[in-house]
Amino acid sequence: MIDVHAHILPGIDDGADSLAQSVEMARVAATDGVAGLVATPHCSNWAFTGGIVEIQRLAGEVQTALDEEQIPVRVLSGSEAYFGPELIGEVARGLAPTLNGSRYLLAELPLQQSILRFADLLFQLQVRGIVVILAHVERYTFVQERPEAVIELAQRGVVLQVNASSLIGVPGSRPRATAELLLRHNLAHLLASDAHSPVQRPPRLSEGVTAAAALIGGEAARSLVETVPRAIVEDAEINLPEPLPIKRRAFWEFWRWSP
Ligand SMILES: [Fe+2]
Repeated sequence: MIDVHAHILPGIDDGADSLAQSVEMARVAATDGVAGLVATPHCSNWAFTGGIVEIQRLAGEVQTALDEEQIPVRVLSGSEAYFGPELIGEVARGLAPTLNGSRYLLAELPLQQSILRFADLLFQLQVRGIVVILAHVERYTFVQERPEAVIELAQRGVVLQVNASSLIGVPGSRPRATAELLLRHNLAHLLASDAHSPVQRPPRLSEGVTAAAALIGGEAARSLVETVPRAIVEDAEINLPEPLPIKRRAFWEFWRWSP
């Protein structure tokens, strides 16, 4: 498996706070069956990373430590960019690097905000050849309240990433229900860990894959952690599935008891 969203670099954001912790995170990932991790430190005003040069330097430092410890995980460079008006300039200056130098840019929004307000920014990125991956899509309030909003995003070519931990209910029932609904409607294009530490938010994917398999079948679930992330790090095209329409429940159905 390949995990394209992990805060594994030491001392650069709210993820690993030391090289030892980075190594422990990779050890957890390897035990879980993860062979490749993309280091995606937050790149925003509150977490200035120093850009691609610093990210690659730290990724190299972590890789050397993993090789010494014989932990079979490859660490690649990337970022979790902040989807705001400065993003075009940050991408151009290498402050918000894409995943492994590919066309794919992992981006997050403020949890309360809708990406639809940034349609122009999305377009400007697209004309520069950037494909946006929206991080942990199930965690945004606007998606939880109106999941059909992401159909438009998918149709605009945005790749939708769901946290594996959401499928096992770690952040709560609402993100879990949203993640399940997105999966069932072809609106979860890949799973990643969004790991921040070896213990609290670990880089594990397998339990999420098992949960996904129960909803969409084993083969489709594996592609969310194998085929799709491999295409991303290899800068290959992804064929996104056609979203299925989300049927709203009639208001009186909310008053029924579930069987
Ligand atoms: Fe993240």
